[in-house]
Amino acid sequence: MYDFDTPTPRAGSGAIKWDMRDKLGNSEALPFWVADSDYASPPEVVDALHRAVANCAFGYMAPTDSYLNSVCLWVEKRHGWAIKPEWVVPSTGVVSELANIVRCFTAPGDRILVETPVYDPFGNVVKSAGRTLVENPLRCDGRAYSIDSEDLERDLKSGVKLMIFCSPHNPVGRVWLPDEVRQVANLCQQYGALLVSDEIHWDIIMPGHSHFTAGLAGTPDNVIVLTAPSKTFNLAGLKCSNDIIPSAGLRSKLAAWKESRHIETNNGLGLVACEAAYRHGGAWADEQNEYIWGSFLHVKDYITDKLPGVIVTPLEGTYLMWLNIFNTGFDSRGAVRRMTAAGAILNDGARYGDDSFVRLNLACPRSQLESGLPAIAAALGGV
Ligand SMILES: Cc1ncc(COP(=O)(O)O)c(C=O)c1O
Repeated sequence: MYDFDTPTPRAGSGAIKWDMRDKLGNSEALPFWVADSDYASPPEVVDALHRAVANCAFGYMAPTDSYLNSVCLWVEKRHGWAIKPEWVVPSTGVVSELANIVRCFTAPGDRILVETPVYDPFGNVVKSAGRTLVENPLRCDGRAYSIDSEDLERDLKSGVKLMIFCSPHNPVGRVWLPDEVRQVANLCQQYGALLVSDEIHWDIIMPGHSHFTAGLAGTPDNVIVLTAPSKTFNLAGLKCSNDIIPSAGLRSKLAAWKESRHIETNNGLGLVACEAAYRHGGAWADEQNEYIWGSFLHVKDYITDKLPGVIVTPLEGTYLMWLNIFNTGFDSRGAVRRMTAAGAILNDGARYGDDSFVRLNLACPRSQLESGLPAIAAALGGV
């Protein structure tokens, strides 16, 4: 049994989630915003990093064959996708890689589609590159979300060059079904849009659900899957992610594009941590999923009891809860201001495209959630 109950002391360490609290107006508030975790990474990963540090050499590093094999093994074992080592393109973060991909494979003014509400950097990387953002709203029946495939087809027909798919979806918590993923991949193929599937949350899957990677749905020359060990194992600060690109043509185009812009890879300690996580972190990742599910049920029960007007979106994947606060009468920014003042920092839904929601990060010891929930209830007028 691994320990998710003991907090890692992060305040004062430079952790954005903790050390930017004063800028948000309450340096004592408990943080449930930035998507990283407040318990220790797997001991196997920490041990590998200790050994690497003890070697006292921090020179330039490139991924070894052993590293690439560890990624292949993880992807095949956990996601049923038999990939080849040469398909693995290590990168230094999913968002910066998305920005590279958008700039490499599209031209200024090209149309790029995202499904909203969605993780806000998707829209930002499109707009900052001077491309045209096409927003395809997810359908919501008041509780659960789905893809409006007719609407998606209409948008893709309008000349979309690239679609950024979020799977599992942040912030709405969906783990897309195989048929849904296949439909997205088929439509992209049919209308000539490159499918870029951000699957950074693909290991954080709740009971009763299983992730289906777009790599198994798309044709090899039309899909790029972006992955990382960073959410699963809390390694975001080590800047290590992996694109999986089956097409040799797409790989060489991206490599040339990056080389000509002096975009360097990699962080050596990030490679060490990723390999250790993928070789030895399976049991830890499974236990974390159980822990997050237990926390989700705990928060859901509390909200149902104290805030009956708040609708809890079902959590299928990710550690991010998506709460509909429309009935409280507050918009999301107002609600977040009140919650922060009361002692709990969440993300406002407006930044993801829906002002009736707030997002709560569950990846912390349950005691931290228990301490923060009364502040949330008080701020939203709980009973
Ligand atoms: C869907 C999604 N993609 C990317 C990221 C960030 O990835 P990175 O830190 O590797 O840039 C996040 C972080 O929350 C995310 O939710």
